[in-house]
Amino acid sequence: MSTPTPHIEALAGEIAEDILLPGDPLRAQVISDRFLTDTRCYNRVRGMLGFTGTYKGRPMSVQGTGMGHPSMAIYATELFRFYGVRRAIRVGSCGALLERVHLRDLVLAQGCHDDSNLVRDRIPGIAFAATADFGLLRTAADLAAERGLAAHVGTVWSSDWFYDPNPGVLDGLTRHGTLAAEMEAGALYAIAAAEGVRALTIATVSDHLLSHEKLPSAEREIGFLAMAELALDTLAGAPD
Ligand code: HPA
Repeated sequence: MSTPTPHIEALAGEIAEDILLPGDPLRAQVISDRFLTDTRCYNRVRGMLGFTGTYKGRPMSVQGTGMGHPSMAIYATELFRFYGVRRAIRVGSCGALLERVHLRDLVLAQGCHDDSNLVRDRIPGIAFAATADFGLLRTAADLAAERGLAAHVGTVWSSDWFYDPNPGVLDGLTRHGTLAAEMEAGALYAIAAAEGVRALTIATVSDHLLSHEKLPSAEREIGFLAMAELALDTLAGAPD
């Protein structure tokens, strides 16, 4: 297959090697408007907006991925295999699973416990280890510390479920020190591994699964921008 792909109408060369991947396509627009210059919208297929511009003198793209493993898998595969994306950071939200992880904190997903067949059964008979790129992870963790951002590095639960019908799962994950729940990191890491791409997931804690607190939407926006800037500077500053 060549470009355009079924879900992205850009031509080859219109997407940068470095990319930010928010789930919400409107957030792709917000990141582009706020942080990039000389921007161009390269994708409107299914409303899943994608933009390319310049960040600190480097070509940079930002593409919405939608929610859940299958949607992430479609965009990650097309971006990595057909558009030559080499480094990708998902910027999303998550639900905290530990008392010491608070609303507004950042979670840097070092690895994923995953219940999606897309990741779990990737290699028959193998419990696939979906992990972040170490260079991106180290750069993001160092930058977060320099900026005084509360950031936790560890495992997340990357799940097909938002409304999980199995109540025992959360307890098991909490007992194994899992920081938070989210729904796309595992697919991103598995496809990045298969395509030889470097990937990381950074997520803001938007709700707490133990205390049931939630961030008001205005505050979500402020936290989101700080996270997006951290991710952009990680891509700009990580060793090639
Ligand atoms: N589950 C999955 N993804 C999420 C959650 C959650 O509770 N909160 C924010 N993203």
